[in-house]
Amino acid sequence: MAQDIQALRVEAKKARVIPVMVLDDLSVARPLAQALVEGGLNVLEVTLRTPNALKIMAEMANVKGAIVGSGTVRNFEHMQQSVDAGCQFMVSPGASITLLESAQDVAIPLLPGVASPSEAMTAAEMGYSFLKFFPAEAMGGADVLKSFASPFPDLAFCPTGGISPENAATYLGLSNVVCVGGSWVVPADLIEQKDFAAIEQLARQATLLGR
Ligand code: 3PG
Repeated sequence: MAQDIQALRVEAKKARVIPVMVLDDLSVARPLAQALVEGGLNVLEVTLRTPNALKIMAEMANVKGAIVGSGTVRNFEHMQQSVDAGCQFMVSPGASITLLESAQDVAIPLLPGVASPSEAMTAAEMGYSFLKFFPAEAMGGADVLKSFASPFPDLAFCPTGGISPENAATYLGLSNVVCVGGSWVVPADLIEQKDFAAIEQLARQATLLGR
């Protein structure tokens, strides 16, 4: 269970990879979540980018072992909807002051997105110590996060955006990286084909990255 940010951090560190999903077909929610959990990835992010996203989160939240979070959270309404859908955490692409303040009134933790030292400092000042680094590759990749480690020893990151099996291990090898997020374990074509066995296999491979 990820009732707070520390619990989420423990779970995310164990899983190492958080699948980031953009889904609209409700029928795939349960078998997809089951395949990911079976493959060893139990911390799941479903983005709020489609009409059925909240229903999909609710369906996935009922899958045994799944810790489901909402992604692309941009306002307080998204946060309330996430709680109502049974999410255990939230992820935002950025870290506006309004968003950071709003999340303090919500029962589940927020992983705010940052891309610069100033944004990291703003989030840290407001009590956030586990942050998403987004968009990771476009903002300079692992070298940037490596540079954050010395001035920000109290901050830990989940880089997301452009992460792949080729670069995940580099990120996971950094002292300030808890886990990585990415969509590569849930390719649109495999979801379309409902090839959940192949997705389970991708998940299994993801758990081995950097080990
Ligand atoms: C997103 O914005 O969808 C996530 O950051 C995932 O990015 P990716 O598709 O590059 O893994």
